[in-house]
Amino acid sequence: MDYRIAPSILAADFARLGEEVSNVVAAGADLIHFDVMDNHYVPNLSFGPMVCQAIKPHAAVPMDVHLMVEPVDDMIQAFIKAGADIITFHPEASRHVHRSLSLIKSAGLQAGLVLNPASPVCLLENVLEQLDMVLLMSVNPGFGGQSFLPSSLNKIRQVRQMLDRHHAQSGRRIALEVDGGITPANIAAAAQAGADTFVAGSAIFGQQDYAAVIQTMRDNIAA
Ligand code: DX5
Ligand code: ZN
Repeated sequence: MDYRIAPSILAADFARLGEEVSNVVAAGADLIHFDVMDNHYVPNLSFGPMVCQAIKPHAAVPMDVHLMVEPVDDMIQAFIKAGADIITFHPEASRHVHRSLSLIKSAGLQAGLVLNPASPVCLLENVLEQLDMVLLMSVNPGFGGQSFLPSSLNKIRQVRQMLDRHHAQSGRRIALEVDGGITPANIAAAAQAGADTFVAGSAIFGQQDYAAVIQTMRDNIAA
């Protein structure tokens, strides 16, 4: 299994964003997780496509854009132009989930759906063949620095089973990313439950030595 660490730059120093992105990539980030909040779908406001475009040259790894916006289709178009590599959105924020996924896929990007802690896993069922990634929220979306909800582990296991079945039937692998409250202390439990991609904001950017935290996370998964 290939595990990926996706630092969320929501927790970076915004006054030095380009440098923060370059530093965390040099420290071993596999993806840059980019949290887009609109103060409508979630009660917070972050950054948009212009910021994505500006940091793209500093990110030598794929840009993993997590849309917490409603509606989603205009922002999907804007982030395709801004250089996103992966776009995920919340199914509750799109009137036509299949159409929104098609928009992402037809531009040649990877597409994913995001499930909130209370969102049922069955939301994935009818669109599995369009998905490259499932993003499971292990906190309620809107803010960094919250604590991992322990009930997320069961949800990870449930989705893992669904994705393994899909792989057995179709030969296609779908990534399983977990987002919210991930730390070196709980990352192994999330990996054992079946996650393969780990978003971490405050756990990485809250430390001086990004490379050391990322390495500790990898060591703890492997242990
Ligand atoms: C929350 C965001 C997360 C957040 C994670 O709505 O989707 O990506 O930045 O931050 P930490 O790792 O601090 O919980
Ligand atoms: Zn996120």
